[in-house]
Amino acid sequence: MPVCDLRSDTLTRPTPAMRAAMAAAAVGDDVYGEDPSVRALEERVAALLGKESALFVPSGTMGNQIGLLVHTQPGDEVIIGEGTHCAFYESGAASAWAGVQFAIAGRGGLFTADEMLEAVKPPQDHFPRTRLVVVENTHNRAGGRVFPQAQIEQIATAARANGLGLHLDGARIWNASAATGLDVAALAAPFDTLSVCFSKGLGAPVGSAFVGSREHVVRAHRFRKMLGGGMRQAGILAAGALHALEHHRARLLDDHAAARAFAEILRGAPGVELGPVDTNIVLVQSTGLPAVELAQRAAAEGVLLNATGRRTLRAVTHLDLSLDQVKRAAETLRQLFGA
Ligand SMILES: Cc1ncc(COP(=O)(O)O)c(C=O)c1O
Repeated sequence: MPVCDLRSDTLTRPTPAMRAAMAAAAVGDDVYGEDPSVRALEERVAALLGKESALFVPSGTMGNQIGLLVHTQPGDEVIIGEGTHCAFYESGAASAWAGVQFAIAGRGGLFTADEMLEAVKPPQDHFPRTRLVVVENTHNRAGGRVFPQAQIEQIATAARANGLGLHLDGARIWNASAATGLDVAALAAPFDTLSVCFSKGLGAPVGSAFVGSREHVVRAHRFRKMLGGGMRQAGILAAGALHALEHHRARLLDDHAAARAFAEILRGAPGVELGPVDTNIVLVQSTGLPAVELAQRAAAEGVLLNATGRRTLRAVTHLDLSLDQVKRAAETLRQLFGA
């Protein structure tokens, strides 16, 4: 039976056209700043996001960690939403490299300006210095939720009034843009710095960018070197990312439609609860069996999902899955839940 792999949108393989673009890429040594394809990508990304400068980095994790490093000093505090990637999924890197601690605003991942203000510490010696607010849009652990832009603008106004920096984990900013119809530059506008990924829904094999002012990116360049992220003929990877930006953005709406179809098939099934589906991620809550056991049973039927909580399964639609495959996977799951 063919496998329907819904574990993540990072699982996609480069298409033949993307491989051809990568094979044909002009390259040079990017540590010397001499790779034309990397430069072209960095210029394109900075222009798309309406910022001065961008830096190609190997991963979204490195983009986020550089974000923490450019805004903070060891001992500082960073305000985040619950389950934010840079605190939850980056192997404790924030405490190892930037040496920061986190304060959580609100519940569930998204938060309001008031909730952010609750988390700001007074400027007294008892407390860590609150320096930075990180927003994740779309929010992975919240189920691909789009952070409402009006709410982000209120957070940004409140953050500025308190002298705080603003970083966006925009690994899936492309999905947020597709879902809202808002330009990525408009989504990026309230932020000083961003990390964006080409290797999630856009389907490139490797790569992310750290984006911000010229000054932020000059500092980021040094941190990238310190973290071991200086790559040599990286133009081969940058060409894949450029191809993805050019050809795979509009089709993200297909992934969103597939995620909605998946949820609709499961909705109302016994033992299942579903949250809202804004983009390409569906969180399926089990009211019965533990998620790990359900994931094992689903895998035996050819449907791969991640258990992201004791009772939570996560399904992510992507470039390598058709609407029909996703619907069949949902039918299979529905039967498992009913069993
Ligand atoms: C929201 C978010 N930020 C950052 C990352 C990190 O990206 P990478 O796996 O390239 O380090 C991910 C990975 O899935 C993510 O979902």
